[in-house]
Amino acid sequence: GAGGAPVTWPGPTLVARKHRPVRIRWVNALPFEHMLPVDTTIHWAYSHTDRTIADHGVPTVVHLHGGHTCPEDDGHPDAWYTPAGVTGPRFARTRFHYGNDQEAATLWYHDHTMGLTRLNVYAGLAGFYLLRDDRELALIEQNRLPRGPYELELMIQDRMFHPDGRLAYPDVPASSPLWQGGPSVQHEFFGRVITVNGRAWPYVEVEPRQYRLRLLNASNSRFYRLSVGGGWPFPATWIGADGGFLHKPHRLDGPLVLSPGERADLVVDFRDLRGAVLELGNDAPTPFPKGAPAAPPTDKVLQFRVTRPYDRKVAEPLLPGAFREAPYRVAGSPARTRRLLLLDGRDGFGRPKPRLGTVERGALGWNDPVTEDPRLNTSEVWEVFNATYETHPVHLHLAHFQVLGRAPFTATRDPRTGALSDISVGRTQPPDPGETGPKDTVLAPPGQVTRIKAHFDKCGLYVWHCHILEHEEHEMMRNYRVV
Ligand code: C2O
Ligand code: CU
Ligand code: CU
Repeated sequence: GAGGAPVTWPGPTLVARKHRPVRIRWVNALPFEHMLPVDTTIHWAYSHTDRTIADHGVPTVVHLHGGHTCPEDDGHPDAWYTPAGVTGPRFARTRFHYGNDQEAATLWYHDHTMGLTRLNVYAGLAGFYLLRDDRELALIEQNRLPRGPYELELMIQDRMFHPDGRLAYPDVPASSPLWQGGPSVQHEFFGRVITVNGRAWPYVEVEPRQYRLRLLNASNSRFYRLSVGGGWPFPATWIGADGGFLHKPHRLDGPLVLSPGERADLVVDFRDLRGAVLELGNDAPTPFPKGAPAAPPTDKVLQFRVTRPYDRKVAEPLLPGAFREAPYRVAGSPARTRRLLLLDGRDGFGRPKPRLGTVERGALGWNDPVTEDPRLNTSEVWEVFNATYETHPVHLHLAHFQVLGRAPFTATRDPRTGALSDISVGRTQPPDPGETGPKDTVLAPPGQVTRIKAHFDKCGLYVWHCHILEHEEHEMMRNYRVV
């Protein structure tokens, strides 16, 4: 909220239209109090200066996740600014231009400040940005998609609360005896309260008809495997991925996995369920996929109560047989193939610290020179080798990509750098049906190489990173540059 605007969590849903660029001034009016549990002297955002949050206020910068934006409008982690106008080392600006030159998609915006993203997003700095295009508007017009009150955007996040209702985040301030003199970064955060659109375990009253659900996992670390009692006792149809529609609607026959950052566009059909109460549940292990099984109360997400009277004046939509003329493909033969690496490490205090790098060089840090430098207007294949024990959602700024598939691999690992050699790769599995549309965040499971293909059509500096925010803050983010 700025200038008296109400403070909301999540932020307001912005609706934009393709080919109608918008300019947004993001005003930083963050109160200092929201960071109080956090050590204010050591945050990376300020590490190039001798300033502190206590002296200069809470920095923020907004990133449009999935947006086809120029580097200076992208919300680069170094592009933060404070309420008093202190700015980070790059691109300092508060007015952002969003060209909206991409297809209809469920985008979202969130804080991306260096070293503070996990806290700022946790405190509520996230919201939906729905981009519509003519094709989608025509489908809505022709009653081929649920519209208006029958289209719900649902932002899922896990949280913890103090008894008085304040948000709790288990970061360790420098004043605490637990502080070991290192960055107060949690390896992962899992809260026991699941919220949807800022409310704990809410219910929504629906009519016995079709609804369009735009799901977003905006949690810091938690994956969800969503279903109603293990399956879908009513028709649930997957129609869109992160960055646009699937070719053809896909009827869900099992749980829907959403990693942090991912979105799913669904149409669910409550027509035969008058009076029913349906529990959208979660059974994803934490960490994913080999951690502890979901335990109450984190196995509950949201209740649908089919109790609203049916509005006869509104006709039922009839979904189209296809949303695109052909399956989504990233065109052009790849100019090159890069082999990227996710690997385990330890920080100076012996705590886990997964890292990014390349297969050839092993682990690389935020300050190491850029290694991913695709040429303007070329396509590339990126092969993400995950040599860690958990699944990481890998996200690229700027470019949507096609998921080509995944394959198991084995390799020899250099004990010093983590670089891989003698790699042998098994049989490739095709992407899941819900991954066949444009993606910007992809699950990279452990022991597998995940292949994506992207086209890079704007010049300049962007980032790619793991979307587990505690990982992103803790060496799972790298710059890349389109040259
Ligand atoms: Cu949703 Cu770089 O982030
Ligand atoms: Cu992003
Ligand atoms: Cu990760």
